[in-house]
Amino acid sequence: MTTADPPAAATAGPQAGTQAGPQAGPQAGPQAGAFADPPSRPFVPWAPAPRERPAGTLAQLWLLARNPIETWSRAHYEKPILSGLSLLGHVTVVNDPAAIRRVFIENAGNYEKDALQLRVLRAGARPGAGDGLLVAGGEAWKRARRTLAPLFTPRRVAAFAPLMQMKAQARVEAWMRRRAGGVVEIDREMGRVAYEILSATLFSDALVEERAGFEREMGRLLESIGRIDPLDVLNAPQWLPRFNRREAETSRAWFEGAVERLVGARRAQMEADPARTPDDLLTALLRASDPETGAGLTPEEVAANLFTFIAAGHETTARALTWTLHLLARAPYWQERAREEARNAPDDPAEWLDALPCVRAVLEESMRLFPPVPHMSRAATAADVLAGLDIPAGSTIVVAPWLLHRHKTLWERPSAFMPERFLPGARERIERFAYLPFGAGPRVCIGATFAMQEAIVVLVTALRAVRFAPAQRHEPRPLLRITLRPDDRVPLIVTPA
Ligand code: HEM
Repeated sequence: MTTADPPAAATAGPQAGTQAGPQAGPQAGPQAGAFADPPSRPFVPWAPAPRERPAGTLAQLWLLARNPIETWSRAHYEKPILSGLSLLGHVTVVNDPAAIRRVFIENAGNYEKDALQLRVLRAGARPGAGDGLLVAGGEAWKRARRTLAPLFTPRRVAAFAPLMQMKAQARVEAWMRRRAGGVVEIDREMGRVAYEILSATLFSDALVEERAGFEREMGRLLESIGRIDPLDVLNAPQWLPRFNRREAETSRAWFEGAVERLVGARRAQMEADPARTPDDLLTALLRASDPETGAGLTPEEVAANLFTFIAAGHETTARALTWTLHLLARAPYWQERAREEARNAPDDPAEWLDALPCVRAVLEESMRLFPPVPHMSRAATAADVLAGLDIPAGSTIVVAPWLLHRHKTLWERPSAFMPERFLPGARERIERFAYLPFGAGPRVCIGATFAMQEAIVVLVTALRAVRFAPAQRHEPRPLLRITLRPDDRVPLIVTPA
């Protein structure tokens, strides 16, 4: 529970008024250093209105393919747990933090990744291609997780901070040169900076000339596999043609080629000149071994995990940054307050992750409203009881950060952008299992520290140099395609700070 539950009338609905329209630029905010209390009428970003009643069968199929976050009804935002028969069989949507703790921690062994999720995430993959960490299961997953964990320790991640700052700084300078005072499509720019950071930390820019192809194919892949095919929902035989299959295959083949070139070149370099091999995540991946058995990853596992890090690490962080800057552009108070903190940040960017409570609170509140991964699901292998409800074996459990983070009983004014809830003093009162941008339990995001550091470094670097204001009145609308992305470009006016 964040704070006391508000009376229903005090809870701002998705369509409630906003704090400032596009015309209110950052100059409307308070002067640096003079931060009064946060605004009493916070910005309320656009979100789809909950349906009054759950969608019928055909409507469900259509909405799942179009935008699954539109399927949620009012009850999903208000009840702790809802169960019923749907197209996916017996489905339980869980919003009760204690029940979520049971699914992810106490009885985690009973809840595996479900078949529909795996079908979607593997769509277009070649038969025989290895499984990356995201989709692996059972013993193979345990071994891979043990082997890969040392790649993402806080110490290793901190060592990447200067490189992250350098890439972010170069991006900001490019805005200043190209478009000082002009309009920047911030969604594209965040995609670009996330790629440049990933490319530098993961494979030392070995694919730098392939950025355009990379972004095109990643966009295509997510658009194709992220559209849930009705035939997959209905568990139709795999030989029946899916509308997304061919595009997914083409994009996967592009990535397989890129990964193969990358791994081949790096292995050759490691043999020819081990002393000058870059100390990046790719080298670490190739050298990684299971701490229990000493065994390394198979070539298929190396390729699949490299692809997984690219796919899971790029989009999510780029989306988190895009939504954060969209919100900051419309919430001048928080933009100024975060800028003030950014200007006074320690010199060493490795310290920023833990030293900047306001920047962090802004990012966390943004991922509450627009969780980059808005939907997680599991299959119950044996029967269980969650929040007093019988869960039959084989049924699907949905934990949707989109719903949980906007749930009426867990958050005060759930639709409003109020970073103050994440500031020290308030943050500690947030229930651990009411806020899950990175998931929880054994399958919690392995890249969470990396992503938080990257996002904070980019935000600090950008806020120090420039101000953001919306370039149009129209707000981007959230669209679920595995990640939560804006339905359109997000143009922001960028001026020197
Ligand atoms: C803001 C950025 C990110 C968000 C919001 C995010 C979110 C998540 C979530 C919610 C899960 C759990 C899914 C589930 O339980 O079903 C997950 C898993 C995963 N994430 Fe992230 N992620 C982010 C960045 C990254 C980065 C930067 C990497 C790697 C470079 C990464 C790699 C992975 C992997 C490999 C898994 C699977 C872990 C496992 O099953 O053992 N993610 N992520």
